Amino acid sequence: MAIAVEPNPLRAGLRLARLPDPAAMVIFGGTGDLASRKLLPALYDLARQRLLPQAFCVVGVGRADMTDAGYRQHLHDAVAEHSRSRPIDEDVWSSFAERLFYVSVKEDQGYDDLKRRLADLDGELGTDGDRLFYLATPPAAYASIVRSLGRHELAHNGTSWSRIVVEKPFGRDLESARSLSQALHEVFAEDEIFRIDHYLGKETVQNILVLRYANSIFEPVWNRRYVDHVQITVAESLGVEERTEYYDRAGAMRDVVQNHLLQLFALVAMEPPAAFDANAVRDEKVKALRAIRKTTTADVGDRAVRGQYAAGFIEGEPVTGYHDLAEVPPESHTETFVALKLFVDNWRWEGTPFYLRHGKRLPKRSTEIAIRFRSVPHQLFSEEQREGLEPNTLVLRIQPEEGISLKFGAKVPVQGVRIRSVAMDFVYGASFLVDAPDAYETLLLDALRGDATLFTRQDEVEEQWRLVDPILEAWRAAPDAPPSYAAGSWGPTEADAFIERDGRRWRQP
Ligand code: BG6
Repeated sequence: MAIAVEPNPLRAGLRLARLPDPAAMVIFGGTGDLASRKLLPALYDLARQRLLPQAFCVVGVGRADMTDAGYRQHLHDAVAEHSRSRPIDEDVWSSFAERLFYVSVKEDQGYDDLKRRLADLDGELGTDGDRLFYLATPPAAYASIVRSLGRHELAHNGTSWSRIVVEKPFGRDLESARSLSQALHEVFAEDEIFRIDHYLGKETVQNILVLRYANSIFEPVWNRRYVDHVQITVAESLGVEERTEYYDRAGAMRDVVQNHLLQLFALVAMEPPAAFDANAVRDEKVKALRAIRKTTTADVGDRAVRGQYAAGFIEGEPVTGYHDLAEVPPESHTETFVALKLFVDNWRWEGTPFYLRHGKRLPKRSTEIAIRFRSVPHQLFSEEQREGLEPNTLVLRIQPEEGISLKFGAKVPVQGVRIRSVAMDFVYGASFLVDAPDAYETLLLDALRGDATLFTRQDEVEEQWRLVDPILEAWRAAPDAPPSYAAGSWGPTEADAFIERDGRRWRQP
């Protein structure tokens, strides 16, 4: 029997708080970095808030030989370090830890042990045969794990449900994404596949939908008639140090732009869905992605800029350049910065460009969406009077200082007319005196409830690749190295020139 879900005032009215069913969650890559840093801390935090079903267990799967006790000890330290409520509550931990188990699986060996173990746990804990599988291994292992699940009949057992959560990267181009979906479909139906993009679990990202569709004042101006352009920035001050091997093969486009950044784009650009359910919301996101004008190899130069960070300073501290990292091959052209200009060829957005930007080693960590409105049609005030006036801008601050601000012109309180831009500010933390849940808490709970609204559907992921593939291909074929930028700057000068050609400038978040 599941215990009651505590109503969370932040999410009240957003989605139906349905109790998660009893279930066993099986994490492949159970001893890996993602499990230790994100998944288990999120599950512990859900347990602390009594949001997990009472009949619930986690079975970690890995290649190492380890006992349940050893696994629990390993995770205790990881959770103590990464939970959002530190120090952890040892009483909560003890009862949570009793539901953690470990099974060793090597290649195709061990799946029968896993099956037996799960059947035993169903009997002991009442998990009912319901399974949430989670692929948190390196992506190269995904297809073979799924085939083994099928071969050993682990995925479907009679009346129970089975779902699978798949971590990014989902493929490295359209073709590989399709063949991964095909491998998954051999065992799971599309509505049992939960492709995770943790940006969708962030409260402020979900709030984009609330802002647009729970309020009447924004939607009438959310279009080409009123919006001059949109800027979406995902800036990070961190470099890639510990993940060089992965990153050098991926680059900024595959790592962040193809998924997180395009998700933000889709939520801003989409049409209102007919219902707040998984397929209606995702249908609209897919339509928005489809409406993006395709970039051909010939116009990559006008639509995209890449860059790679060189040595520089972050918050006054010297940092090394990408190329100086020991594991980076000297000939690496991997981009650590991307800027894109997207045109959305539909009724709402024709002629309003979306500028997207992401980079490592930029001056600060900041994710924001800025909707820049057009100037008034007729200027009543003289140029001198409106010297301090900037165009109206609505800024959705996704992180770290979550909130929304609207910039508008106000009269300076002096004799005569002088206009200056001021901001009307909503600060999440000040209005809601609760800590927002971590994205993984939200997404794991949704996967347990079977709500796929915040997960990426196959056609969505394919549209994302369709968009970035020609750009990646043009860059791969280009003989020149990406332009460099000093760590701690806002990217290569080419990125400034790129937007300034259109008579616009990047915002400084
Ligand atoms: C991950 C990328 O998906 O997202 C990382 O692999 C990136 O390179 C991270 O740093 C950004 O996530 P967040 O939540 O820190 O903005």
